[in-house]
Order: sequence, then C-alpha cells, then structure tokens
Amino acid sequence: MKNYLDYLEKRRSYYELDNQVKVDNKEIEALIGKVLVATPSAFNMQSAKLLLLFDEKHVEFWNKVNATFDNSINKTKFKGFVEAKGTVLYFIDRNIVGKMQDRFPNYKQSFDIWANHENAIVQSNIWVALRGANIGASLQHYNPVIDKWVTEEYGLDKNFELLAQMPFGNIISEPEPKEKFPASERIKIIE
Ligand SMILES: Cc1cc2nc3c(=O)[nH]c(=O)nc-3n(C[C@H](O)[C@H](O)[C@H](O)COP(=O)(O)O)c2cc1C
Repeated sequence: MKNYLDYLEKRRSYYELDNQVKVDNKEIEALIGKVLVATPSAFNMQSAKLLLLFDEKHVEFWNKVNATFDNSINKTKFKGFVEAKGTVLYFIDRNIVGKMQDRFPNYKQSFDIWANHENAIVQSNIWVALRGANIGASLQHYNPVIDKWVTEEYGLDKNFELLAQMPFGNIISEPEPKEKFPASERIKIIE
C-alpha cells in the first residue's frame, strides 16, 4: 500500500482472524508505540494509556472475558477473538485528566470529552496502522463489565478507565463491503 489514504480505505472490522501474523511482536509493539506518541491530544495532555497482550496472555484474556459473560459471546465471533494474535486495551489515565482539570478549571468538562476524543483518535490511528502492516483488527466494548478484574489481573492504576478492546491478527477473510453514504451527502461546501 502506497499511502495513508490507502491504509485508511483498507481498514475494516475484521472478525475472522488467526495468530499467523508475519510481523513479530517487537515490531508490532514499536508500531503501536510510534502511533501512540504521534497522535495529538488536547493541551498535549497524553491521557491515553494502552495495555498490549500477545499470544497466551491474549488467549487468557479472551477466555476470561467470555467467562465474565457466562460464555455467552457468539461462538463464531469469539473464535475470531481468541484465535487472533493479540489485543490492545485502551484506557484514559484519569490522573492526568484530573490534573488538567485542576490547572484549567474553566475547561473542566471539556477535558473529559477531549480525553475521549484523544483516545478515539489513538484507536483509529492504530487500527489503520495495523492494517498497513497487513494485520486486521476490530473494536470491542466488553467494559465496564470486565473493568474490575482487568485492573487487578494486570496490576493497573485504579484510575485507568478502560474504554475499548481491539483484538488483532492475521486476516483470514475480507469482510463484505458496507453501504456508505456518498461524501456529497455529508459535506456542505461553500466557496
Ligand atoms: C466508536 C465505535 C464503536 C464500535 N464498537 C463496536 C463494538 O463494540 N463491537 C463491534 O464488533 N464493532 C464495533 N465497532 C465497529 C463498527 O460497527 C464498524 O466500524 C462499522 O460498522 C463500519 O464497518 P467497518 O469497520 O468494517 O468499516 C465500533 C466502531 C466505532 C467507530
């Protein structure tokens, strides 16, 4: 793929994944790290924090998620999660947001919103960058039901708020195309 727009257009929600990824864990870690650092945040606060699980740790995680939901996750969907290569867990570091709110009380409510915006941009950028490395991913939300054990299991700061989980892996099949509104219906142009 040649450029950013190619990666952006290739990004999809991939549910049929396995662990036969051609890129090694260290390279994936470096790629995700670069994307995280390159992503902007309000007042440069950098409140997005990640947990990266690979291989057995990833498998353990998804088995525990499923157990938390009484093993009720759709079997086909769950197979794609648990048989994938790894998972990125996305958090807001509430310690950082709180400090910004104390420093700039006029923007107190905005910092909550901006922290979510920042995290969404990180999520999107990583989703696209993984696709650029030929790795498929999807975005999942088993929080807040799993929050308590995630904090304990991985020794995380209690002020880390879990926002999303992104299982990723080798792409087994391309999803069906989805209908999209033409840009002309969503953009008003004045010139
Ligand atoms: C903010 C946000 C939340 C989403 N939450 C979920 C989710 O919890 N589970 C899921 O399977 N897909 C989730 N998705 C994926 C969307 O359904 C998907 O991106 C959309 O239908 C477009 O399909 P595509 O990703 O294949 O282009 C989410 C996407 C976004 C942007």
